[in-house]
Amino acid sequence: MAPAISSQRQRPPAHRKADCQGLPGTYRGDVSAPGPSRFAAIARIPRFRRNELEGFRYGWRTHGDLYHVKFGWRDLWVCSHPSLVHEVLVAGRDSWQRINELPDGRPFGLKMALGDGLLTTDGDDWQWRRRIVNPAFHRQRIEAMIGTMIECGDRMLHRLGEAADERRTIDLMTEMKRVTQDIIGRTMFGTDIAEDADRIGDAVDEALQYVARRSRAIVNVPIGLPTPAARRFGNAIADLDAAIYSNITSRRSADSPGNDLLGMLIEAVDQETGRALTDDQIRNEVATVYGAGHETTANALTWAWHELMQSPRVLERLCSEVDSVPPDALAKLTYARMVFEETLRFRPPVPINGRVAMEASRLGGYEVAPGAIALLIVNNVHRHPGFWERPEIFYPEHFSPEAKAARDRYAWTPFGAGPHLCIGNNFAMIEGTLLLAMMARNFAFEPVHPLPRKPALAVTLKPKRGMRVEVRRRS
Ligand code: HEM
Repeated sequence: MAPAISSQRQRPPAHRKADCQGLPGTYRGDVSAPGPSRFAAIARIPRFRRNELEGFRYGWRTHGDLYHVKFGWRDLWVCSHPSLVHEVLVAGRDSWQRINELPDGRPFGLKMALGDGLLTTDGDDWQWRRRIVNPAFHRQRIEAMIGTMIECGDRMLHRLGEAADERRTIDLMTEMKRVTQDIIGRTMFGTDIAEDADRIGDAVDEALQYVARRSRAIVNVPIGLPTPAARRFGNAIADLDAAIYSNITSRRSADSPGNDLLGMLIEAVDQETGRALTDDQIRNEVATVYGAGHETTANALTWAWHELMQSPRVLERLCSEVDSVPPDALAKLTYARMVFEETLRFRPPVPINGRVAMEASRLGGYEVAPGAIALLIVNNVHRHPGFWERPEIFYPEHFSPEAKAARDRYAWTPFGAGPHLCIGNNFAMIEGTLLLAMMARNFAFEPVHPLPRKPALAVTLKPKRGMRVEVRRRS
């Protein structure tokens, strides 16, 4: 039986038994939830801001799988157990929604950069968008994209080969972003828009960094003030708009809108109103797929090498697998996929997911007020000693078929869960496995500096200052 939600103080996971048992999750509406006092929460802010994920681990160890903290206007419920993930994202899909607006109605978080789109809407407003975009992600369509992914991967190998021959060091994070931007541009939006892939990708990244900083700030300067950061954000949005709108215009005037996601969006009809999508609506979906679809995978690939450079056993097994098959089989390798899955557990690119209660709700047996925020600490759930045998070790065997079958399915949710499950999850798994295998087959990497230990959190989880490596050809 899965371990129940524990409100017991947790010792550091490394010292806990794998089969830890918590308290049974009984109704506790009459009891106040555990959590730090307001004073204690405020006192911990400086340490928390230095490393947020560490802060949430400390909170988990101190207060248990579910705790409550009041923080400014925020009424936060911090969740670190698979059954709470299920309660919020799956069972609670109608009462918990995404956090896209501040209590006064101003846009918040991703919505500031992406507008109303697939990643920033809910309910009916979201559903018709998902219906329109879904066909672009059907398994067969994605399988048909593997050829393009390999072409982009070959271009990356060529760049890596040049760096190896010139004995030049590279920032792996930058290179991974380059290849994933190339792939998302060419597979989803065709070669015309792919010419602008770097420009669009960089503009989305700049805009997302800005909204991430604002979302986490305790006090924000008013949005209209022309601070350097606000100016950079404004320029990024202008650049993004210019690149996307010009591509929409040229597609609209072409003989056929094209057989890719951009073409589908141009041809799509809103079933409710019978109207075609406006340019603004198309712009938001294009920015969303760019924003959601490249940096996440790029981060995961960078972290995969971060771990592989420190795990000779895993690297050796990966290399022997990739060396044993022809290049066209690389996207389907079992162990390479397990390495990628384990990377998504150990360093989840989206380590925290959140929802706001639209009505009075229950969570873990407690009563929760409307407007309360559930923070799902995926990074903690992925390390919960009740569900993972060696949570603090990079161990791809966590994803052997037997281990997977025996585990609670909400113990691993790098792609979310419920109706908003990442639309690109199959795409990302194929892309990540393929690129990892292509790299492992051809190159070895050595860190130039001690490997970064502290991840930076800016919507996604990435090495704080990139990751500089030496590249060597495997002969
Ligand atoms: C390793 C790579 C990826 C990770 C870790 C990841 C993670 C996630 C997560 C956690 C969500 C759920 C957000 C929520 O619950 O509110 C999500 C949604 C989404 N992702 Fe991904 N993603 C990845 C790759 C991709 C790719 C490659 C694409 C597109 C090509 C993509 C497009 C989207 C979109 C459009 C949504 C919104 C889905 C909806 O609400 O209907 N993602 N992703």
